[in-house]
Amino acid sequence: MSTTRLALIGAGIIGKTHIDRIQRHPDLELAGIADPTPAGQALADSLGVAWTAEPAALLDQVRPQGAIVATPNVAHVPVALECLSRGIPALVEKPVADTVTEARKLADAVAHTGTPVLVGHHRRHNPINQRARALIADGQLGRIVSATALATFLKPDPYFDVAWRRQAGGGPILINLIHDIDMLRFLLGEVTEVQAMDSHAVRGFEVEDTAAAVLRFASGALATVVVSDATTSPWCWDMCAGEQGQYPRQDVASHQIMGTHGSLSLPDLGLWQYRGQRGWHDELSHEETRVHAADPYTRQLEHFAAVIARQAQPLCSALDGLRTLAATLAVHDAAVSGQSVQLKD
Ligand SMILES: NC(=O)c1ccc[n+]([C@@H]2O[C@H](COP(=O)([O-])OP(=O)(O)OC[C@H]3O[C@@H](n4cnc5c(N)ncnc54)[C@H](O)[C@@H]3O)[C@@H](O)[C@H]2O)c1
Repeated sequence: MSTTRLALIGAGIIGKTHIDRIQRHPDLELAGIADPTPAGQALADSLGVAWTAEPAALLDQVRPQGAIVATPNVAHVPVALECLSRGIPALVEKPVADTVTEARKLADAVAHTGTPVLVGHHRRHNPINQRARALIADGQLGRIVSATALATFLKPDPYFDVAWRRQAGGGPILINLIHDIDMLRFLLGEVTEVQAMDSHAVRGFEVEDTAAAVLRFASGALATVVVSDATTSPWCWDMCAGEQGQYPRQDVASHQIMGTHGSLSLPDLGLWQYRGQRGWHDELSHEETRVHAADPYTRQLEHFAAVIARQAQPLCSALDGLRTLAATLAVHDAAVSGQSVQLKD
């Protein structure tokens, strides 16, 4: 495999994760960093790569084969459009945009330019979720009837010292639950209707600390999802799946998928089925599949290299990112309005 040269735009927390994975990979190379801060410039200097404050200047200077857009949400689409206008494929961090209208602009630009965008919903690249999707596609669960997803954990008090994290839009629905909704879409298909409630009762901030939602899928399946950053609880993907060393791993399940002929818990890939007679008086078998652990951020970059080489279609396209964003915003809108929200294409 030849080396793929990538530019990094936005060298904050997740940008540095991408840099780390690029540097460890024999077939990836960091071409330069665009970030307006002195810290961004210092990082580029320390790594011996090009630096500019403005994304467009970096793209013109280093002509990367692909660019990673890891800026704050509001800049995702403007920066990605700079990439597409130069024919440079972009890996755009989640959420794809801060509004559905902006996301639509990007999806239209992909269709117009033919230059691909991969959205950074990294859980799709986790071998656990890929196996779960294959088991479902293989009919192991029969028809999917329902699912539950828990994203319940505790953000420490100092996290809220930053003003935007106490304000509407800066909370766990858009920051955390969006990952679970994308995961459910990856496994179960399109969401067509959302009902939800939120609560501010624990911290009393403008932003929610807890939300509970019911999702209806095009298949007819129903899912319940709960997110809270104010609970002492291990039941969230980040703590259960062990994707990142910063969260101590807990050996419990955070997600369950229930079908007419089997059920699956995740991330343990526990499969429950009847082998003989089928009914709740009969014996249920339980087996666990162990997949090889692999870092989803590295796999996502390897997939991005394949997308750049036009050897693969994006596993999460701009349109996919739009639909996940729309379903996530619908949780917020349904909670605020008290009305169910219908999702149209
Ligand atoms: N997939 C994941 O696991 C994951 C995890 C964390 C964050 N994210 C997403 O990544 C994005 C960044 O989050 P973060 O936590 O790294 O934020 P951050 O604030 O730590 O970093 C953002 C960086 O972008 C820079 N920046 C701002 N505007 C810019 C511009 N116009 N051009 C270039 N650089 C610019 C800032 O100086 C900063 O260094 C967000 O969209 C967030 O939702 C994804």
